[in-house]
Amino acid sequence: MSRQKVLVTRGDIPESGLSILKNKYDLICWNKTTPIPRTEFLSMVKDVDGIFCLLTDKIDEEILSTAGSKLKVVSTMSVGLDHLNLNALKTRGIHVGYTPGVLTDATAELTIGLLLATSRKIIAAEHALRNGEWTSWSPNWMCGPGLANSTVGIVGLGRIGARVGEYLKPFGVNKILYSSRTEKTDAKKFNGQHVSLNTLLTESDFIIVTIALTPETREMFGKSSFDMMKSTAIFINISRGEIVDQPALIDALKNNKIRGAGLDVMTPEPIPLDHELLKLDNCVLLPHIGSAAIEARREMSVITAKNISAVLDGHPENMPSPVNI
Ligand code: DGY
Repeated sequence: MSRQKVLVTRGDIPESGLSILKNKYDLICWNKTTPIPRTEFLSMVKDVDGIFCLLTDKIDEEILSTAGSKLKVVSTMSVGLDHLNLNALKTRGIHVGYTPGVLTDATAELTIGLLLATSRKIIAAEHALRNGEWTSWSPNWMCGPGLANSTVGIVGLGRIGARVGEYLKPFGVNKILYSSRTEKTDAKKFNGQHVSLNTLLTESDFIIVTIALTPETREMFGKSSFDMMKSTAIFINISRGEIVDQPALIDALKNNKIRGAGLDVMTPEPIPLDHELLKLDNCVLLPHIGSAAIEARREMSVITAKNISAVLDGHPENMPSPVNI
């Protein structure tokens, strides 16, 4: 009997996961370290039993119908699911796996790093030093607001948002507010106060967005949100660029309606080098590296592979991280 086929959409997947699949299935791999072009994806996906994909791979009707009836599982090496057409997957009875949990610590620590880089101008200061602009210790040079005694607002208190709250506590933050559909017991760990989004936006010195991208949250931060924020507010987004109406954010930064922004995600990704966002000196931009801790990426690869092998071995109930659709 011929072996089942799994399409792996990237060439530099951590070996920890690939080795789980290699001995059991025929792997069809896009061997480059850049995203698989759509035409290649459509041609390589035909007749596969499983897909190991990344957040850069759009899985829609066309991919699913081209794959055909053998396809039983799509497993994404990400916690975000916005690149997957979940309705189409559900209709076809295809199992879906993802990797929540294993990237929580990595993403939360990067969030704190990005916040500090933005508020305390860490990246600008390092560039200034290298450019010979450090003439002497100066009372006002490279100053920014501290976290102690501040109010921080976390939008969306899922796993990552809650861990960010925990990590913030030792900084002596005065209040941690959060907005989410329901009150969360996790918030007790850092005395988080459940408030409306408007209260969070008006009262916070630092606003951290950790909410998932869905049709409801797309562009939820627009002009009216930035108008509501303090002129000293710092906005941090580690979720998805599409959560933000980006021209409205650029306008708010240009006109100092808010103090600054730190973005690990933006639209598009990668951002073109002549983009307006790169011209702003009150904005820190990172290339979507929230989960880029070596251990997290290894584990993400393992979970993605195990989600696939559970289904292909006939035991979907053993998927470590199924998406319940
Ligand atoms: C995800 O997993 O969705 C993050 O954006 C990257 O790890």
